[in-house]
Amino acid sequence: MEIHAQPQVSSATAGTSADSRPVVLIVDDSKSNLAFLCHILGQEYEVLSAQSGERALEIAVGAPKPDLILLDVVMPGMSGYDVLTGLRNTPETCDIPVIFTTGLDSTVDEEKGLELGAVDYITKPYRAPIVLARVRSQIELKQSRDRLSSQNNYLEGELAKRLQEAQQAQSRLLQSEKLAAVGQLSAGIVHEINTPVGFVTSNLTTLASYWQDILKLLDAYETLEALAMADAAALNRIRSIKQECDIAFLRDDTAKLIAESQDGLARVTAIVRDLKNFSRAEDIDNRQWTDLHSGLDATVNIVWSEIKYHCTLRKDYGELPKIYCNPSQINQVVLNLIVNAAQAIPDKGEITIRTGQTDSKAFIAIADTGTGIPAETLPRLFEPFFTTKPVGKGTGLGLSIAYGIMQRHQGSIEVSSIQDKGTTFTLWLPLKPADAGTMP
Ligand SMILES: Nc1ncnc2c1ncn2[C@@H]1O[C@H](COP(=O)(O)OP(=O)(O)OP(=O)(O)O)[C@@H](O)[C@H]1O
Ligand SMILES: [Mg+2]
Repeated sequence: MEIHAQPQVSSATAGTSADSRPVVLIVDDSKSNLAFLCHILGQEYEVLSAQSGERALEIAVGAPKPDLILLDVVMPGMSGYDVLTGLRNTPETCDIPVIFTTGLDSTVDEEKGLELGAVDYITKPYRAPIVLARVRSQIELKQSRDRLSSQNNYLEGELAKRLQEAQQAQSRLLQSEKLAAVGQLSAGIVHEINTPVGFVTSNLTTLASYWQDILKLLDAYETLEALAMADAAALNRIRSIKQECDIAFLRDDTAKLIAESQDGLARVTAIVRDLKNFSRAEDIDNRQWTDLHSGLDATVNIVWSEIKYHCTLRKDYGELPKIYCNPSQINQVVLNLIVNAAQAIPDKGEITIRTGQTDSKAFIAIADTGTGIPAETLPRLFEPFFTTKPVGKGTGLGLSIAYGIMQRHQGSIEVSSIQDKGTTFTLWLPLKPADAGTMP
């Protein structure tokens, strides 16, 4: 039979006591001992009791969890040592302090009890002041330990949070330092390259028209050649010059060289245009309240003819108010993302454009069913000049430009990707940027 002193074991939720007083579990096979201890401890503590070791172990893992156990050493069946070993081997109970209780004339081995992890001893017959003093001091110790450990947990949590924040801040700083460095560098490069590119482009256009004139003249010579049949010497001279310079090849190849140079220059011009975005990092002018959906439609139209043969497009537009942004810059970001998505689809696949809003932000998500991005590559995506495309195919500027543009808009760009399944880039823009005027 077991005795429960007042107040009774509560049916509180696991691990807590409805009574906020510390909980003491008394284990003794003697009913009178139990009654005495319950009586003196019940004034200050919530008291639980067990008359056997087995029952003590059951109560110890239940709720409320004891803050201290008074454990009789000599009991029929399970001894106090066995109970203590059981408590120490159970994760939920291994940290509950245990005071052994034993008769003065008992031959029990106190050292063994302390070795097993008991924190103190009380000898019988019990004297109320001694029992109370010993129990109080252990309960106070336990409460201090609990406070320390919860403060410790809190501090560890705070430390981990701060560390993560610091790491995020550092990587943001690194990214903006890189952008700033590329900005400075590109301002110089753009200036240096623009002038020669300008005159070579214009020279090539002039050269192409000169070449047409030369061809006309050549045609006239060839007519003359037919007429000069009679003058054998003159004819032979013209024929040998023609053979020497392989005029048929020159006709063909010169035009090709000019076209190829013009194409190369167009590519350089495109890179210079991209680089300009870095050198104009503060250029956030021309922002206006914009209908993002019509910008999206216009951007899709621009690339559609190039990608329609291997991509289907799904539009899943939500409700969006007008957003305060620079529409051509946002369109440029969307264009880069759609082109990347199409380039990531090797055969046939789908691109989905989804829009919507949360309380304070609008989003545009561009998802593809392409190759996906390996986890080790994800952290490098927004680095200037990072590309996995072959030389001449990609400059690796698309995403870093997008990152810069979104930052200047007080927004952000996020990526999630599953390899061999696809990738989603999400653009976030504030519904009400701090420096926006009121919506018209
Ligand atoms: N949707 C996507 N799916 C898979 N990989 C992608 C996707 N978008 C970007 N990437 C990867 O990110 C890299 C960087 O993209 P980014 O747009 O910055 O440069 P790029 O496309 O290589 O060249 P650029 O855009 O300058 O022509 C790409 O080379 C590619 O490896
Ligand atoms: Mg790209």
